[in-house]
Amino acid sequence: MAIVNTKEMFKKAYQGGYAIGAFNINNMEIIQAVVDAAAALKSPVILQVSSSALAYARAGYLLAMVEAAVKETGVDLALHLDHGPDFETCKMCVDCGFSSVMIDASSLPFEQNAELTAKVVEYAHKYDVTVEAELGRLAGVEDEVNVSSEHAFYTDPADAVKFVELSGCDSLAIAIGTSHGAYKFSGKAELRMDILREIQKLMPEYPIVLHGASSVDPKVIETINAYGGNMKSAAGVPEHILREAASLAVCKINMDTDIRLAMTAAIRKIFAEKPDVFDPRKYLGAARKDIQATVEHKIKNVLGSDNRAL
Ligand code: G3H
Ligand code: 13P
Ligand code: ZN
Repeated sequence: MAIVNTKEMFKKAYQGGYAIGAFNINNMEIIQAVVDAAAALKSPVILQVSSSALAYARAGYLLAMVEAAVKETGVDLALHLDHGPDFETCKMCVDCGFSSVMIDASSLPFEQNAELTAKVVEYAHKYDVTVEAELGRLAGVEDEVNVSSEHAFYTDPADAVKFVELSGCDSLAIAIGTSHGAYKFSGKAELRMDILREIQKLMPEYPIVLHGASSVDPKVIETINAYGGNMKSAAGVPEHILREAASLAVCKINMDTDIRLAMTAAIRKIFAEKPDVFDPRKYLGAARKDIQATVEHKIKNVLGSDNRAL
C-alpha cells in the first residue's frame, strides 16, 4: 500500500511476459478511474504526469490525490514524471515524492543525452527513484512533445546498449514506429518489432518502454464524430501488436490519448443527448466510468497485468 518505484514491477513483468500500463493523469476523475480499475483487477499500475499536467493541475494537488487513492484502494503504484524536459523538473519531482522520473533528452545528440540522463540517475538513485530515458525520436503532436515525422527516427540497437551502459538508466523508451496523439498511421499500422527483438537479444532482462501506444478505438472515434467531433482519420496501434510487445521486452506501455478519447466521447454524448444537463458531476462522472472501463479492458486484454499486483 504505497507509492513504489518501477524496479520490482518491471522485473516481474519481464519474467511474466506482461506489461504495466502507464496512464497519464491530469485531474481527480482520471486518477480515480485508473486506480479503481487497477484495484478491481489486482493489477500494478503507473500513474504518469507530464510537465503540462504539472502546470495544469499543480504538483501538490496531484500528489495529494494520488496519496488518497493509494490509501483508499491499497494499490501499490508508481508515480512517474512523463517526458521530464530537464534536470530541474526531474529533481523537483524526486524531491516532492515521485517514485520514478523520465528524463527526455532524446532531441539532444547521443553524448549529451547520455550525460544529462546520467546526471538525473545519479540524483534520483540517492532517493531510490528509478529513471527512464529515451533514445530515438517519436513523431507526434502534443503540447510539450512535438516532433514532426521527418525529425523522428528509429532507435539503433547497438546505440541502445551503449546508452544504457553510459547513463545507467533503469529503463529505456525506444522508437519503433509509434507516435504520440490520435493520428499515428495513415496507411497500415506496423511497428519495427525486429528492432525490439534485436534490443532484447543484446540486453536480456532489460525493461523497454513503449510511448505513443494508444489504440484509438474506432468505436470511440465513431461516437465522438457522431456527436459533433471531427476526428475522421484518427488511428492507433492495434492491440495485438501491443500484446506481442508486452510478451517481449516491453515492460511499460504508455497511454494518454485513449483516456482523452474516452472522456471526450462520454461528455460529447451526454451534452448532445441531454442538453438540459449542467451539473459537472453528471458528465464528469460518466467520463470517469468510461475511462475506468477503458483501463480495465487494457489491463485484461492488452497488458495482461491483471492479478499481478505486487
Ligand atoms: O506524451 C505526451 C503525453 O500524452 C502528455 O501530453 O504534454 O499534453 O500532457 P501533454
Ligand atoms: P499516446 O498519445 O499514444 O496515448 O501516448 C502517450 C505517451 O506516450 C505518454 O508519454
Ligand atoms: Zn510519451
